Amino acid sequence: MRVQKMHPVIGLEILDLDLSNPLPDESFKQIRAGLNEYSLILIRNQNLTEEQHVNFSKRFGNLMTHVLTQYLTTPYPELYVLSNKSINGKPIGNHKEGWNWHSDWSYYEVPCLGSVLYAREVPPEGGDTLFSSMCAAYEALDDNFKKRLLGLEAVHSYVGYFGKAFKDRAPLSDAQRARTPDVTHPIVRTHPETGRKSLYVGEDIISHIIGLEKGESADLLAQLNAHAVSEEFVYRHNWREGDLIIWDNRCTMHCATPYDDQKYFRVMHRATIEGVDRPR
Ligand code: OGA
Ligand code: MN
Repeated sequence: MRVQKMHPVIGLEILDLDLSNPLPDESFKQIRAGLNEYSLILIRNQNLTEEQHVNFSKRFGNLMTHVLTQYLTTPYPELYVLSNKSINGKPIGNHKEGWNWHSDWSYYEVPCLGSVLYAREVPPEGGDTLFSSMCAAYEALDDNFKKRLLGLEAVHSYVGYFGKAFKDRAPLSDAQRARTPDVTHPIVRTHPETGRKSLYVGEDIISHIIGLEKGESADLLAQLNAHAVSEEFVYRHNWREGDLIIWDNRCTMHCATPYDDQKYFRVMHRATIEGVDRPR
């Protein structure tokens, strides 16, 4: 398998791979190892059916279904649709999903392991996704600051996030709220497979750091979020149709960027791989 590093601290591109063909276990193992080492894998020029996307994603683990079930609009409930497109007046996907820095599903006690995002339709300009290495961000902190973070825990709130990100929408249903109670995670987590430590923060999703006074918590979060997405830790992906990206949510954050949604369509399908550990 030919591979190419994409950025000094994140990302490995795998070339000459067609996932519509059967993928030998040995090749999958290499992809899996690449994900641990580089946190993000890019495979371009794919032409996958929804079923092939789901089946490839399942090799990483069980798949989870999104709490916003109104956006599970393909025949495969494992696929969450992100899009500005509507059919007969009904959105086929969640528009403006991920327009802030986050790690997917950090609002669960056991967050997802990774995500497998496939670009079906993309605008000719805009709509890039930014990815940051939270390991590199953590490792760049000085020792005293690392010590200060030790033992700090933060509350991740999907209900809070939804209210901030989607102010103009109908609120979450009782069933959706029941599926997403607030949870607590450490600010620094250790990757269960590589042993590397990383920051575990995010915009909008964290309501506060436990035990700190309100202003202090807000200031520290703002400082950590700003640091985590410093230019040297961030890879910017300009999508082409047929791009597939797998990322490790245990050690990265990502953020969508805007595009002209009146002029262009964007349709992305995401499979979400179940986590196996509680952050610690
Ligand atoms: C996601 C996500 C950002 C984008 O799929 O989890 O946040 O640019 N996507 O579509
Ligand atoms: Mn996301």
